[in-house]
Amino acid sequence: MKSGRLLEDIKTKNDIVDFISSYVQLKKSGQNWKGNCPFHSEKTPSFMVSPSKQIFHCFGCGAGGDIITFVMKHENISFQEAITLLAKRAGVPLPSEGTDKRASQKYEKLRDVLSEAGRYYVTKLKDSARAAAYLRDRGIDAGSIDTFGIGFAPAGWDNLLRHLRGKGCSDALIKEAGLAVQGNKGFYDMFRHRIIFPITGMSGGIIAFGGRALDGSAPKYINSPETTVFKKSDSLFGLSAAKDEIRKQGRVIIAEGYMDVIICHQYGFKQVVAPLGTALTPGHIQKLRALSSKAVLVFDGDAAGRSAARRALALMCHNNYMAKVLLLPDGEDPDSYLRKYGAESFDNQLRYAKSVVDFLFSVPAGDNIEIVREALTLISGVKDLLFAGEMLRELAERAGISESTIREEFKRVKGLNVTAVPGPRRAFSCEKKSEEHLLLSALISFPEKSDYILSRLDMDDIEDKVIASLLRKIATLGEMWGATQILDIADDEERKMVTRYSLEPGLDPEQIDKSIEGCFRRIEQRKLSERLRLAQTSGDAVLANSLLLEKRSLEERGL
Ligand code: UTP
Ligand code: MN
Repeated sequence: MKSGRLLEDIKTKNDIVDFISSYVQLKKSGQNWKGNCPFHSEKTPSFMVSPSKQIFHCFGCGAGGDIITFVMKHENISFQEAITLLAKRAGVPLPSEGTDKRASQKYEKLRDVLSEAGRYYVTKLKDSARAAAYLRDRGIDAGSIDTFGIGFAPAGWDNLLRHLRGKGCSDALIKEAGLAVQGNKGFYDMFRHRIIFPITGMSGGIIAFGGRALDGSAPKYINSPETTVFKKSDSLFGLSAAKDEIRKQGRVIIAEGYMDVIICHQYGFKQVVAPLGTALTPGHIQKLRALSSKAVLVFDGDAAGRSAARRALALMCHNNYMAKVLLLPDGEDPDSYLRKYGAESFDNQLRYAKSVVDFLFSVPAGDNIEIVREALTLISGVKDLLFAGEMLRELAERAGISESTIREEFKRVKGLNVTAVPGPRRAFSCEKKSEEHLLLSALISFPEKSDYILSRLDMDDIEDKVIASLLRKIATLGEMWGATQILDIADDEERKMVTRYSLEPGLDPEQIDKSIEGCFRRIEQRKLSERLRLAQTSGDAVLANSLLLEKRSLEERGL
C-alpha cells in the first residue's frame, strides 16, 4: 500500500482539470468542467470534472474517480504505474523501498532501455551512408528524421546487445524490452539491418520499435513483441506527434503504414496516424476519442483496401465516430500519392472523402437491396440518433427508396440488434432514487450530517451491496473525511458511486434534514412490509394485524 502522504502529495501537485484537458476538450460549466467522455462514445457531453473536489464522473457510462483512476483507465496501466507517472509529472520523489518501488522500477527500467536503444539507433543512422541514402530515396527529409526519431540498426547479431550491456543492462531486461531474442546459442538482437521507427506512447516516450528492411528481404517490417509497456492493438504510430493537430482539427486521418504517417506529416498533414499493421481495434478508437470525433480513413483502392475500409467503417460507426473513407487510386498509398501529386492534390482527395453511405454504393457488394441492408446494419450500430438520422436520410436518397420505408426497415434491423449493441448505461437521472442512494448522496454532500446518519443507520438494512460496503468504509474514516479520502479506499464500483454523488446536483440544503428523515422512515417501512409479508404467509394473523397497525401509524406520521 502507498502511504496516504504520498498519494495526497501526488494529487495536490497534479491538478485534475489541467491534466484531463490535455486529453479531453473541456468547457466550463458552472463550477465544473464538461466534455465528451473518453471512456465511451457520446455526442452530448456528460463527462464532468470538478476542480474543487478534484474528481471526474461520467453521467453517461458511470466511470468516475480521481486523477489516479483517470490515468489508470485512460492509459490502461496499473495503479502503481499511474502513481509513478503522476509523481514524475509533478516532480514528487517516490519512496525507495518496498515491492511497489520494484514494480515501478521495472516499468521505468524498460522505458529507459528503450530510450537508450532509440538513441543508439539514431547515432547508427548517422554512421550509415547506405541507410541515409535509403531514406533520401524515399523522400524522407532531415526534419522528419528528427521529428520521428528515425534510426538504423546495423547488420550483425549483437550490436545493440553489446551497447546495452555496456550500459549495465542485463540480457533478461533487454529481452523483456523486446529488443533481444533468446535462441539456442544465446541472445541476439531483435532488429538487424533495418531502418528503425520508434513507436511512442501518447506522451512521446518510446514503447516499441518498428524496423523496415532496406532491401527486398522478408519480412518487410517487423515490430517489437508485446511487452509490459507495449500493446500492439492499442498503439498508433505517430500519435504523440499528431495529437495536438488532431485535437485542433477535431479530426484524425488514419492511414495504413509507417511511411504514410511520416510523409503525410512532412507534407503538412500532421493529423495522420496509423495502426501497426493490424486492423483498427476498439482500443485504437478509445485512444483517439479523447482528441476528436471525426475521422477520415485512407486506404488503397484495391480489393484488399476496400474490404479493410468496410470493416474499419463498421467499427467506427459502432463507436459513434463520424468516419469518411478516402480510397486512393489503385496501388497508391498516401506516401506514394503525396510524392507523385503533391499536398494540394491530396488535400483535394481528402475533401471528397466518401461518407459511409456513399462508400457502400460506390464499391457495391451486391444489388441495391443488399447495399441498403448492409448500410442499415451499419447504421444500427450508431448510438447517436442525430447522426444515425442523417445517415438514414442520405441512404433513402441514394437508394431511391422513400425515407419512411427506410426508417420502418431500420426499426426492424435495430430491433434485431439491440442485444448485440449494448448502449451506455441508463443515465442516473432517469432512475428512481432509492432511499439508500439518497442517504449516500446526503452523506457525501453533507459530511456534517455523517455522524447522525451513520449512528442511526443499521448497516444490515442496506440492500445494495455496493452502498453497504461503501458505508462501512466511510464509517471507518472517523472525523476527517471527504470525497478524496473515500476514493483512496474505494473499489471500482464504489468509486463510481462516490464521484457520481459528488458531482450530481443533489439534495436541497434547505430540505436536507427532512430528506434524511424520509429515508429512514422508508427503510423502516420496507422492513415492516417484509415482516408483514412473512407473518401473512405463515398465517400468523395476530402478528400480521399488529404489524399492519404499526405500518399505518408510521405512514400517517410521515410523508
Ligand atoms: P505496407 O506494405 O502498405 O507498407 O504495410 P508501407 O507502410 O507502405 O511501407 P513501404 O512504403 O512499402 O515502405 C502497411 C503496414 O503494415 C505493417 C507495417 O506497419 C506497415 O507500415 N506491415 C507490413 C508489417 O507489420 N509487416 C510487414 O511485413 C508488412
Ligand atoms: Mn508504402
